[in-house]
Amino acid sequence: MSSSTNVIFQVQPGGSLNGEIRVPGDKSMSHRSIMLGSLADGVTHVTGFLNAEDAMCTLEAFRAMGVQIEGPVNGEVTVHGVGKHGLKAPEKPLYLGNSGTSMRLLSGLLAGQPFDCVLTGDKSLESRPMKRVTAPLAQMGAEIVTQENGTAPLHIKGKAGKLQGMHYDMPIASAQVKSCLLLAGMYAEGETSVTEPAPTRDHTERMLAGFGYPVTRDGATARITSNGKLTATNIDVPSDISSAAFFLVGASIAPNSDVTLKHVGINPTRTGVIDILRLMGANIEVLNEREVGGEPVADLRVRSAQLQGINIPEHLVPLAIDEFPVLFVAASCAEGQTVLTGAEELRVKESDRIQVMADGLQILGIDAQATKDGMVINGGQIGGGEVDSHGDHRTAMSFSIAGLRASGPITIKDCANVNTSFPEFRDLAVKLGLDVSVI
Ligand code: S3P
Repeated sequence: MSSSTNVIFQVQPGGSLNGEIRVPGDKSMSHRSIMLGSLADGVTHVTGFLNAEDAMCTLEAFRAMGVQIEGPVNGEVTVHGVGKHGLKAPEKPLYLGNSGTSMRLLSGLLAGQPFDCVLTGDKSLESRPMKRVTAPLAQMGAEIVTQENGTAPLHIKGKAGKLQGMHYDMPIASAQVKSCLLLAGMYAEGETSVTEPAPTRDHTERMLAGFGYPVTRDGATARITSNGKLTATNIDVPSDISSAAFFLVGASIAPNSDVTLKHVGINPTRTGVIDILRLMGANIEVLNEREVGGEPVADLRVRSAQLQGINIPEHLVPLAIDEFPVLFVAASCAEGQTVLTGAEELRVKESDRIQVMADGLQILGIDAQATKDGMVINGGQIGGGEVDSHGDHRTAMSFSIAGLRASGPITIKDCANVNTSFPEFRDLAVKLGLDVSVI
């Protein structure tokens, strides 16, 4: 299971990446396709669904609430929607594994149901901050009991018909908080509006619109009411740019590389990684731009380049929030200094990504200094050594990519959670030219 610490990756140093691949479906959109498909009237067909532990936690949660869901088979899922008011009380607590998106979005959606339920998760998820959703939900009239320090398990008391719409100015830029409140707003009296301090991923708003549910957007504010219904639709989930990011960095730092990543979602609220790498001098071409089901998609061609250290513009932080672990590896291979600020959110992800990456990069000989809200990295020669991913999928994959420029083998501990977002990572990395094995 996800909490297993016994999967160890061993990466042999050097190599280049070449070839054309399609990485698995977008995690954020896969979660939302199940949530909205379940609440829709009619049958929703999803293609490109991410068959990984996080998205499966959401899928199983809806099965446990009486929704009939077929698949995933080759990325295809069929959701027999039960309508906005058709969910049934689950018989047991809903176990959401490592998945922050499942827990935060579900807490909003479940706050307005006619039944009580309990949301649990693994050790990492049960140590992550949940007050950021339970506090604004309480202002809407929700009743959610957390642990003393504001963490899960969350005991949600069903408040059907008793939630009140409100306006909320989010203190942090978080798509999970925004989405949680919009989903609660579907069950609240009057209007619910959320203003974000900086743009965050807008898949919830786009997908709600795709299901025909009225949601409006003016500037930084999204608005919703309970006067709407979801009508089943077909969803084609593009490849996850957060998974593609490992190869965007890998092909940039490994000499003689040329990789094309097909059918990647390039929603502008997600493309910070491309902008940051380009500022560092990366050679990334965005080809065949097209729109698929309300989301922009393209093929990304990336070739080796000598990267330069930069001061990462703070406005790009929420647009690349999941890509910093691998961007730290890019910075380690860049000429000069890279400085990240304004990214304290990284400390409350699946692990403390600032500390875990700084510790690991230091073990590998890189001058990487953690700061309270970011990191200062001086590019240098990556060495071999043994690092600990702390059970975080993205740090595990990032340290693997570092092997492309290492002078010795890298051993990475606690890698089982790569299965939460990208079970095919090793196979695809090997296919492109990275020598990574499980020991
Ligand atoms: C997500 C939003 C982000 C991101 C997470 C997925 C989503 O979290 O880090 O992996 O699907 O809404 P925050 O919005 O809390 O930054």
